[in-house]
Amino acid sequence: MPHSVDPLRSAFADELQRVSSERELRALRDRYLGRKGGVVATLMKQIAAAPSGDRRLLGQLANEFKTDVERALAERQQALQDRLEPVEAVDITLPGRPIAQGRRHPLVILRDRLEDIFAELGYAVVEGPEIEDEYHNFEALNIAPDHPARDMQDTLYLNAPIDSRRGTAPPSERTRPQVDRAATLLRTHTSGMQIRYMEAHEPPIRIIAPGRVYRRDNLDLTHTPMFHQVEGLVVDESITMADLKGTLTHLLRELFGPDARALFRPTFFPYTEPSADVFVSCHACHGSGCPVCKRTGWLEILGCGMVHPAVFEAVGYDPERFGGFAFGIGIERLAMLKYGVDDIRMFYENDLRFLEQFPH
Ligand code: DAH
Repeated sequence: MPHSVDPLRSAFADELQRVSSERELRALRDRYLGRKGGVVATLMKQIAAAPSGDRRLLGQLANEFKTDVERALAERQQALQDRLEPVEAVDITLPGRPIAQGRRHPLVILRDRLEDIFAELGYAVVEGPEIEDEYHNFEALNIAPDHPARDMQDTLYLNAPIDSRRGTAPPSERTRPQVDRAATLLRTHTSGMQIRYMEAHEPPIRIIAPGRVYRRDNLDLTHTPMFHQVEGLVVDESITMADLKGTLTHLLRELFGPDARALFRPTFFPYTEPSADVFVSCHACHGSGCPVCKRTGWLEILGCGMVHPAVFEAVGYDPERFGGFAFGIGIERLAMLKYGVDDIRMFYENDLRFLEQFPH
């Protein structure tokens, strides 16, 4: 009959000390805590048979021993696991987990591409403010005060200017003092950067200016109140329309492949004269006519023209001495045509099933 558990304690401590694997640890646990024939179970049985005067104290000692053994085994188990983690916790036969790889948004892909194409031609990439004033967005670009683009229906004004042409302003704003040139708005195009850049630099100039623009449009298949443009401007002493056509034809071939053809159709912009809408031969049907190009064989890509003398005058350049060309490209529109996207809203919904279809 035991009178103490001390010998058992030191025997257990010795054995635990020698354990060096989980298998040995399991064996040790079985030996001490096994229900039948385990050291602790045997001890309990002996105590049950002890004289009632000893039972209480011995029972208490045995229970403490049992608890200590359990705790020591658990601690040792944890220590062994920690030590073995890198080897035993990794099942090297499992297939690897794919690493989620981020990718560029299609609008970023195209913006980067445009920047690369023009950087190679020696253009600088510049950026300007999205909050613009009427002067840079309209007036200096020769856009007349009664031009519909200036209407509050089309432009998002930040402080509403007052005059007769804006009869839609609420009464409180109609009574405000005239602010006109100082009126601020969200730029409706990147063309104001032509003015800002020429104000701060002398020719020769070769820049593109990418960025966000805003219009008072409701969301539909082809309109969003915010979209992206890339503006281009070249000014030097002997720039002609041949430079414009050569540059933009090169651009379209870079974007749509070496067989792409360019079509220049006369149009009107207040800040260029002459002006042209530029079309590229449809890459889906090579010009024979299909749903992508609405059976015309051509896709409208951008607007351009020779810088209007009034614009040069606004920035203090001599229109007799300098010539220039400018162009504006809508990035969403370009992306829709290039990638065959028929709903502009897809670009803003961040649906991974959509975004994952574009190249890295
Ligand atoms: N600003 C025009 C637009 O928003 C695009 C444009 C057309 C820009 C002709 C130009 C240009 O620089 O010459 O639709």
